Amino acid sequence: MKAVVLVGGEGTRMRPLTETIPKPLIPLMDRPSLDHVLDHLVRHGVHEVVMSSPYLESTFHGFIESRHGDPRITWITEEQPLGTGGAIVHALDHIDDAPFFALNGDILTDLDLSEMLRFHGSRGATATIALHHVDDARPFGLVPTDRSGRVQKFREKPGELIPGDINAGTYILDPGTLSEWPTGENISIERQIFPALIASGRPVYGFLADAYWLDLGTPQQYLQAHFDILENRVKGEHYRAPWVAEGASVDLRAHLGRWVAVGPGASVAAEATVEDSVLLPGASVAEGATVVSTILGPRARVGPGASVVDSVLAEEARLPAGMVLTGGQVSAGREAHPGDQPEAP
Ligand code: GTP
Repeated sequence: MKAVVLVGGEGTRMRPLTETIPKPLIPLMDRPSLDHVLDHLVRHGVHEVVMSSPYLESTFHGFIESRHGDPRITWITEEQPLGTGGAIVHALDHIDDAPFFALNGDILTDLDLSEMLRFHGSRGATATIALHHVDDARPFGLVPTDRSGRVQKFREKPGELIPGDINAGTYILDPGTLSEWPTGENISIERQIFPALIASGRPVYGFLADAYWLDLGTPQQYLQAHFDILENRVKGEHYRAPWVAEGASVDLRAHLGRWVAVGPGASVAAEATVEDSVLLPGASVAEGATVVSTILGPRARVGPGASVVDSVLAEEARLPAGMVLTGGQVSAGREAHPGDQPEAP
């Protein structure tokens, strides 16, 4: 079984972290979130994947080398962004005639892919879309199905607050399904391919699973993924809370809350407080500083006595001693200044 993993988005909602690191390569606990995605695929018998990215392409090379082994990765060039559908069409030359998985590479899930494949076969589907039930479907694509699971329509981002089953970003596709779509064009699978398949009467099914599912698209969701892993809510992911990587240093006089991940080489000095936050590799929190609901990018530095809440510091960003930052974003390599903080309403 093969899979196309979509990893080529710019991750604009995860800026400024994604200025230098593509979203799938941002560490989730001890390794890039893409590692978790690929390990999950392997657990369900997927041993070959195809990936491409027009965004920060070179950063993927080291990742691919570091994974040597299972699954085998075929990397293809995508010069211009082809969108979620176009990137899958572009990968078809490397897929054989059997149904294959296609999935967003920025989702944390313990979805039973083997069960989904059995469902796909049992329905004689041409495409199967994993569904996840949410109470508020507004930020997602709503996918109503009939009692047999057949998809009736696709409704991207409904305007009103309604519960429903949403597109969970994992698909099984028969290669023939995509043969009419041109290669090399920007195509959205959600907005173009699925609505066209449904309109043409092809058997498209929704597989509603009671699985853990979280899109790692925003800083809040990225933090939530860590909290859920630390609470053992994700099958196959086991870490102690708070999680302190080997090679990190936390002073005995520092205070770490339960929902904290401290990456390799990161440090927390005496009298510092860290709550509900993620410190990526090499990030440092100096003496007496406070870090709450914040992501510190690789080698980001929070100065002595500074305080940072609800914020994101990109790679090697710095918060000077004593500065207070709430709801702010600091770009890669920059030192924070008062303009990084949103103005009070
Ligand atoms: P935002 O800019 O914050 O919306 O993030 P994003 O660029 O990642 O977009 P989105 O979350 O909608 O993308 C869903 C999945 O498709 C992610 O795994 C992206 O990496 C991937 N993706 C989006 N656009 C492209 C593209 O043009 N090419 C490829 N190869 N993948 C894409």
